[in-house]
Amino acid sequence: MKVIVAENYEAQCREAADIIEKLVRENPHCHLGLATGSSPVGMYKELARRCSEEGLDFSGVSSVNLDEYIGLEPTHDQSYRYFMDTNLFDHINIDKKNTYVAKGVGDVEANLREFNDVLNARDTDLQVLGVGPDGHVGFNEPGDILYSSAHAEVLDESTIDANARFFASRDEVPKGAVTMGMGGIMRSGCLLLIISGSNKEDAATKLLMTDEVTPKCPVTFLKIHKNSVVIITRELADKIGYKA
Ligand code: GLP
Repeated sequence: MKVIVAENYEAQCREAADIIEKLVRENPHCHLGLATGSSPVGMYKELARRCSEEGLDFSGVSSVNLDEYIGLEPTHDQSYRYFMDTNLFDHINIDKKNTYVAKGVGDVEANLREFNDVLNARDTDLQVLGVGPDGHVGFNEPGDILYSSAHAEVLDESTIDANARFFASRDEVPKGAVTMGMGGIMRSGCLLLIISGSNKEDAATKLLMTDEVTPKCPVTFLKIHKNSVVIITRELADKIGYKA
């Protein structure tokens, strides 16, 4: 696991964008695994800038997203399809028909079959990750076991609390989600984690300050991936006592 300490959030976003840019330039037909949440927003903005100002070309790139809330239409402003369109896809020259975000409405089992078919057809070359305060990646919540395939999860109360800031009220946060499983994540050629913020101390400590790999903190699985990169802000690294 490679760890990069970035001076601030902007530098963190540029470092992350550099890694994706290198991949896209080397392999214009690469397959990206993408994530939502506030962590990657700045990186998406930077990639959009590089696309419009510096000719970074996404026309041959395809993507699959980590997860989607159950019960939200793709047009809902808190759905992850809507997030991806408004934060990235509408601002780069990717062909939207080559972007996949799992369906959150309709028959959950059929949606999961489709999601797993997409994941089994092609592994991603790089998977962008954020992390929840409880250590979840995608929506793989901590527990005694993790699941390999795409599946439905009941969200932890702490996840609902953390994500309530995006909704008009806590009651509106969906109670479930479909998520890529740990298998789909771990099969990626490269895992790229962006981690910052005060509520990430616990997850960052378990990731960077212990040798444990545990389903009780899913992000710790990055330690056993052969090509994982963690980009952490100086502020968070200092808070947990991490020294590069
Ligand atoms: C959600 C997403 C995760 C994301 C997490 C952290 O729960 N399902 O993929 O990593 O939020 O979000 P943020 O980056 O806003 O802290």
